[in-house]
Amino acid sequence: MTEAILLVGGKGTRLRPLTVHTPKPMVPAAGVPFLTHQLARARAAGVDHIVLATSYLAEVFEPYFGDGAALGLHIEYVTEEEPLGTGGAIRNVASRLHSAPDDPVLIFNGDILTGLNIRALVQTHQSTSADVSLHLTKVTDPRAYGLVPTDETGRVTAFLEKPQTPEEIVTDQINAGAYVFRRSVIDTIPTGRPVSVERETFPDLLSAGAHLQGMVDSTYWLDLGTPAAFVRGSADLVLGRAPSPAVPGRCGDRLILPTARVAPDAKLAGGTVVGEGAFVAEGARVYGSTILPGAVIEPGAVITDSMIGTRARVGERSILTGTVIGDDATVGAENELTNGARVWCNAQIPARSLRFSPDQ
Ligand code: GTP
Repeated sequence: MTEAILLVGGKGTRLRPLTVHTPKPMVPAAGVPFLTHQLARARAAGVDHIVLATSYLAEVFEPYFGDGAALGLHIEYVTEEEPLGTGGAIRNVASRLHSAPDDPVLIFNGDILTGLNIRALVQTHQSTSADVSLHLTKVTDPRAYGLVPTDETGRVTAFLEKPQTPEEIVTDQINAGAYVFRRSVIDTIPTGRPVSVERETFPDLLSAGAHLQGMVDSTYWLDLGTPAAFVRGSADLVLGRAPSPAVPGRCGDRLILPTARVAPDAKLAGGTVVGEGAFVAEGARVYGSTILPGAVIEPGAVITDSMIGTRARVGERSILTGTVIGDDATVGAENELTNGARVWCNAQIPARSLRFSPDQ
């Protein structure tokens, strides 16, 4: 059995307003807090003990997951008084690990949806006797990520954060946010101050001559850091394109949670999920979107690739494409909101206030 650390303390700034009341890993994807999918996948790969490194809105995790027994796990929680960054968070939970100095410890970013073969990453780590092993994935535009070039044996040769010029883009392999650390390497991270594992720990280990191994796994991979990506990830879970043992129902075009209500002639498709107690009225059409618990979609509204917050309301015949509506917000009838619009929690948009298309 392997132990794992899950990094779930980030502020999730890019995901606001979804993360105003809820930390990113607790925002529902395919009907359950996103973290549930990661915990279930770790369990399926043989992990039994998980330490959650919490900071922002730390108090909401334990009441939901408790000791982890419902998922077949033993979960512990460690909260940073001040955010310690990704590396500091790893170091801060070290005392909770039971592993021996040479044992592998898994570490996951709490906002990555992936079909990574977790056992294969651990095997790669052990067969190469690496100090740290990293899951790498290939992307077409690597500029927003940390590049990780490797030699012909997969050994990491450099870490290049957020490259901009063509000369800097030396590879399409990026850090995919899942690592295996030799237990004793965790103790080399400095204590008591913020440390970034990507910007400080990995480059420092490399220049000190440590063996960092990359494993390219080109299965499903999505960083759920932005609203558009989060909505896409939830839809892919519902559609079965992204693998998770924790989707509460059969995968298909839509997922309607037991206490949700959907009018018979409403149309739901593209991996749409309707949360507990939510209501989709007659004639409404919802594609590839997430309707959070208690939200109301009024008659004739058309919602595409959007996230509708808890208890929010979308008025009759409103058209929403690529938008996020915060918790308890109201969009009045016959509004039109398009790509990237974010309506804050509790905001009220009066009927017929916003248009993006020309009148005929
Ligand atoms: P943005 O603010 O939108 O960039 O999101 P974020 O705060 O989640 O940052 P980022 O996506 O870079 O974080 C990667 C992972 O590390 C996420 O799972 C975060 O929850 C986690 N993380 C980031 N900073 C900290 C921290 O200071 N402490 C802990 N415990 N986790 C962190």
